[in-house]
Amino acid sequence: MIVGIPREIKTDENRVAMTPAGAGALRRHGHLVLVERGAGLGSGFEDSAYRAAGARIMPSAAATWSKSEMILKVKEPQRSEFRFLRPGLIVFTYLHLAAEPELARQLIRRRVAALGYETVQIEDGSLPLLAPMSEVAGRLAVQAGAWCLQAQNGGRGILLSGASGVRPARILILGAGIAGANACQIAVGTGAEVTVMDISAVRMRYLHDILGGHVNTLMSNHAAVEEEIGQADLVIGAVLLPGARTPRLVTRKMVARMKRGAAIVDLSIDQGGVSETSRPTTHEDPIYVEGHVVHYCVTNMPAAVPHTSTYALTNATLSYALDLADHGVEKACQAKPALRHGLNVYNGHVVHPAVAQALGYEVHEPW
Ligand SMILES: NC(=O)c1ccc[n+]([C@@H]2O[C@H](COP(=O)([O-])OP(=O)(O)OC[C@H]3O[C@@H](n4cnc5c(N)ncnc54)[C@H](O)[C@@H]3O)[C@@H](O)[C@H]2O)c1
Repeated sequence: MIVGIPREIKTDENRVAMTPAGAGALRRHGHLVLVERGAGLGSGFEDSAYRAAGARIMPSAAATWSKSEMILKVKEPQRSEFRFLRPGLIVFTYLHLAAEPELARQLIRRRVAALGYETVQIEDGSLPLLAPMSEVAGRLAVQAGAWCLQAQNGGRGILLSGASGVRPARILILGAGIAGANACQIAVGTGAEVTVMDISAVRMRYLHDILGGHVNTLMSNHAAVEEEIGQADLVIGAVLLPGARTPRLVTRKMVARMKRGAAIVDLSIDQGGVSETSRPTTHEDPIYVEGHVVHYCVTNMPAAVPHTSTYALTNATLSYALDLADHGVEKACQAKPALRHGLNVYNGHVVHPAVAQALGYEVHEPW
């Protein structure tokens, strides 16, 4: 198969769909890999690295898209890329179609075979191609929070680790899923006093087991959040109710009772945010102060560390990309049910039940 890797064009997006090693693996399976010139630069990969891995460098987006049978991307096709969509083209990327009705319409009308990373689902119900980005964002949240707490950013001037004879910061993490657990591990590593809350005893038991006495776990409810938040220097929001808006566990009144210069890093902002005071921000302008608390609510945090994120993404997507390239959509999806869950649009129809429901389409069987 001819596999194309275009340069990402969404604002602030520096990731690329495959590392040179990933491109090399596709090449070793006998596929021709076309990489748009400069596609890897934002992640620290020169064209020469892709060339050395056996890929061919293409001069433009148009050349990459038009010569490829399958396109691997990071972000959903942007409006200026719609013209490249054509019948039979396979597109494997983050799609989030429920939030992109016009893209869905284009994929249907142009009879594209569109697979969304975010709906690839393994037997236990987990989402293996979303997990690596939650892992990155969770780990980054502590770093972002440490920066927010610095005085020049409006923070209360507290070092997470404290110092000899000086108490460390108190970090409250809401949600002990993939992002929350990763935030928790990094937070504990800084020497801060860490409390994590969830409604899942299983998740909290897991964190308690792996981190021993270094973390406090508390069942999440309104009263407990209210009590804990007044003590916290840094609150990290990492709650998710799949398919629904994030519950607003932190009210405006609670924020008013937080310490002056405390910080909220709200990862859940991409699903609405965990605090009533959260609103989306960008990497260019990541923070604002509201109710004397510094808020960091960047919706695409992994884009700040594209080198790490691109490796993490390739590690997760490569085996699925190889299956698609080796066997084509139909056979690959039949052999691997996880990939079938990833199929959103096929042959002019929406074939994923939740996507169809969210967009008001009838769901079809793909074959
Ligand atoms: N901002 C970003 O750049 C970025 C990047 C990656 C992920 N995220 C977001 O981070 C959030 C978490 O993602 P994840 O992969 O860790 O999800 P996850 O499903 O692994 O974990 C979510 C956790 O929230 C818990 N939860 C549900 N209701 C709760 C409540 N009332 N109180 C406390 N905990 C509750 C669940 O039990 C679960 O353990 C999502 O909104 C995701 O979209 C944001």
